[in-house]
Amino acid sequence: MQNKVFRAFLLIFAIALMAGMVTACAAPAAAPAAAPAAGGDAATATTEAAAPAASGAPVVGIVLPTKDEPRWIQDETRFKDLLATAGVPVEILFSQGDSAKEKANVETLLTKGIKVLILTPQDGAAAVAAAEEAKKAGVKVVAYDRLILGTDAVDYYVTFDSNAVGAAQAQYLVDKATGTGNPLYLYAGAASDNNAFLFFEGAWKVLQPKIADGTFVIKNSSEATALQDKAELTRDELAKIIGQVTTNWDPGTAKNLAEANLTVATAADKGNVSILAPNDGTARAIADVFATDPDVKSYVVTGQDAEKASVQYIIDGKQSMTVLKDVRTLAADAIAAATAFVNGQTPEQTNTYNNGKIDVPAKPSAVIAVDKDNVKAAIVDSGYWPASDFTGLQ
Ligand code: GAL
Repeated sequence: MQNKVFRAFLLIFAIALMAGMVTACAAPAAAPAAAPAAGGDAATATTEAAAPAASGAPVVGIVLPTKDEPRWIQDETRFKDLLATAGVPVEILFSQGDSAKEKANVETLLTKGIKVLILTPQDGAAAVAAAEEAKKAGVKVVAYDRLILGTDAVDYYVTFDSNAVGAAQAQYLVDKATGTGNPLYLYAGAASDNNAFLFFEGAWKVLQPKIADGTFVIKNSSEATALQDKAELTRDELAKIIGQVTTNWDPGTAKNLAEANLTVATAADKGNVSILAPNDGTARAIADVFATDPDVKSYVVTGQDAEKASVQYIIDGKQSMTVLKDVRTLAADAIAAATAFVNGQTPEQTNTYNNGKIDVPAKPSAVIAVDKDNVKAAIVDSGYWPASDFTGLQ
């Protein structure tokens, strides 16, 4: 079913892009000559066009944050799956966690004459300069998964419902908790990523009433404890908590923080613990630390991204849940938006996200909570990952 939709979509995309390219060829090109040397060497995946007008120059440029996290390799793979079939001239570059490299990547793609930029900012505020350069060059800017902040140079936002991600993680902790006084450990993503705020905000709305009624007791954040009677947090308040419990999306940082937290916690602060971990990479690191503490009798730990390693952890009972954000949908939505822009149309919009400057049009996609009970149905039977990638799957 999903395959059919993709195939139909790809066909429309190929036709639409060819039409767009014919128009582009007829118009006096603002076109660039030689490809620059800088910026794009980290990881380049150009899908050469079968279309006559293509001559290898990308029409759509995609810039992703890092190859060091499986999450973004997923996106690259899903984009390639979609684009290879369509024969669309696209170039994908990675920024390796570096905003300067990200800007150089964008400049490389602009020089090559792209019409649409799909950008996942490493840092939502630092990406403004690159987005504004693109806008100046007449290129449409699509923020992909992470919002670009504080500029009007973003035309569309392709995203999952990130508040719902945090809410699903928190709801899982609530559903698994029994009695009162359950030790709660909070962790967050990178403060430079707007999503970290959306995830935490979504989680807080679900957790806060359960902290207020005594189900949970926060053990590792004095900032969160100080705010525990507030149902809704301002951005500044969220920033205070995130600043204290950030993993910076880095498993190493997450491991060190979890170790530091458990070192100062007493045996009474451990026992059967609940852990809000923001994504899979950090969840595995945090889970490994809690698993080796003799005073931790059991733990429930959240995640997100359905990374293969975490799906295996879930099967093995080492990570409790993940949130599946079906990247096939996100990549398809991004390409649909790019196609619309190439053809002078407006992508479908169901929502807006304020980036501090404008309300950015968006169409957020739904997410699915996955644990041991539905892992086979949600991950394998849905075709997201093949069963052969895992052991012990029932
Ligand atoms: C977020 C993204 C997550 C996770 C994280 C770390 O912005 O939505 O899926 O991968 O970054 O890269």
